[in-house]
Amino acid sequence: MYNVTFKFEQKGLEPITLKDIAAGDSILETALKNDIELHHNCGGVCACSTCHVYVEQGEDFIEELSDREEDFIDRAVNPRLNSRLGCQCVLLEGSGDITVTLPDQTQFLGE
Ligand code: FES
Repeated sequence: MYNVTFKFEQKGLEPITLKDIAAGDSILETALKNDIELHHNCGGVCACSTCHVYVEQGEDFIEELSDREEDFIDRAVNPRLNSRLGCQCVLLEGSGDITVTLPDQTQFLGE
């Protein structure tokens, strides 16, 4: 089980820590199930970049970056070394702390 903390670059949003999150779900699914808004224009099939997140902690607990994901990250707004697509960040079996930061989603212009 994981503790997953969501931080937000958007002003006025406080960090949220979710406890006892099981392996198998993605960061996107974890967010949506807990009423945390994260865009997902393609429906979570690695065909857009709107679910872009920054993984600050716990990347070893998350499925590895694929070439396809990397291609879409390149098209995201303000990609960084720790950029991932939330829908591709499936939690592996294990336990620990994961922290992700959501970019300011009010900046998205579309894809
Ligand atoms: S929701 Fe489109 S790539 Fe993740």
